[in-house]
Amino acid sequence: MKTLLFFLAGLSSIYTLDNGLARTPPMGWNSWERFRCNTDCLNDPENCIGEKLYMQIADRIAEDGYKDVGYQYVNVDDCWMARKRGPDGKLQADPDRFPSGMKALGDYIHSKGLKFGIYEDFGTETCGGFPGSKFFMETDAQTFADWGVDLLKLDGCYSNVEDMTSGYPIMEFFLNKTGRPILYSCSWPAYFVANDKIPDYKAIAKSCNIWRNYDDIQDSWDSVADIIGYYGKNKGNFSDVAGPGNFNDPDMIIVGNFGLSKEQQKSQMALWAIMAAPLIMSTDLRKIDPYSKALLQHKGVIAINQDPLGQPGALLVDMNQIQFWFRPVTPQGSVAFAILYTGSGGTPEKLSVQCQTVGMVGPGAYNVTEVFDGRFIGMFKPTDNINITVNPSGVFFAKAVYLG
Ligand code: GLA
Repeated sequence: MKTLLFFLAGLSSIYTLDNGLARTPPMGWNSWERFRCNTDCLNDPENCIGEKLYMQIADRIAEDGYKDVGYQYVNVDDCWMARKRGPDGKLQADPDRFPSGMKALGDYIHSKGLKFGIYEDFGTETCGGFPGSKFFMETDAQTFADWGVDLLKLDGCYSNVEDMTSGYPIMEFFLNKTGRPILYSCSWPAYFVANDKIPDYKAIAKSCNIWRNYDDIQDSWDSVADIIGYYGKNKGNFSDVAGPGNFNDPDMIIVGNFGLSKEQQKSQMALWAIMAAPLIMSTDLRKIDPYSKALLQHKGVIAINQDPLGQPGALLVDMNQIQFWFRPVTPQGSVAFAILYTGSGGTPEKLSVQCQTVGMVGPGAYNVTEVFDGRFIGMFKPTDNINITVNPSGVFFAKAVYLG
């Protein structure tokens, strides 16, 4: 019995994700939502999936203030590969679109003080139809390490969902074996949910740093609101397993694109901060307007997103198109809360909200500050009421620091 216990303890340490990464939700950029699978570098050289795009984005992150507030990863998504593996079985970048090769791209990104992320798929093909990792996991993990990859997003198209529970941890094993710390982003639960299966989040958290739970984000408020609605329901209790080293990923930040109003952009930032979600922008940082840029770089919002407790928030009340969300943050006993008006009536809603209904439940008092404009609102006790105004598809976002 003793021997068996030792053996099991040994096994669990081999199979426990302990790469020291994602102590707070990762921050960076990914090409997918904004640039998709545009491989036409001949006619659209500025926007196609090629090394130039990632180098220019790395420049913008490094030089325009994004890096200074915490954005780090430059993530290449689908459609970077050549249609076939090389004669040695290794993945290769499309030679026309990535003429310098992936190692050189990684070196460039690193030279800017940033990190290099890449995309692959657990199945036989990526969602865009490029070679998948099935049967090549060890080779691919080593190839990525050789290229200096710091993050792997492993998608799940063209695979059998039943294989994921055993298969995703195998890629984790091979990533660890390379000796290079590589943040592991898994789409495993999203494919379970899409197939009406309940994911085993404890198992997922053992292998993955971050994981997609649900559908792809699109450039619209409908999509953002649908995602927020899904996370509010917390099906399968995925919030319970999140914390430093492990985060749920409601998908990319689309602030700066075409689909969201100013209010809706604030709502996405606030809710992603409350959910302790990765802040992975997918927008054209070469052309972004000052409003969206300032929002993406808002230090108060980022501080809540990156709060060292790493505890994701929860939906407390959902009534008459008003949602109360809260998240425990530091200093101890403090909370961040967001009141979201999901309705589309044209007039702002005026509410009088009792503090305990947004998570201020300590016996003492709280100093409450609105996050976006930094306005101090006052000192409140749990039974006091705060009067707020919230705009259609907008948010009231505040931090309540516990005074004891
Ligand atoms: C899936 C993923 C997306 C993106 C595309 C690429 O749909 O969920 O985030 O990576 O594949 O094809």
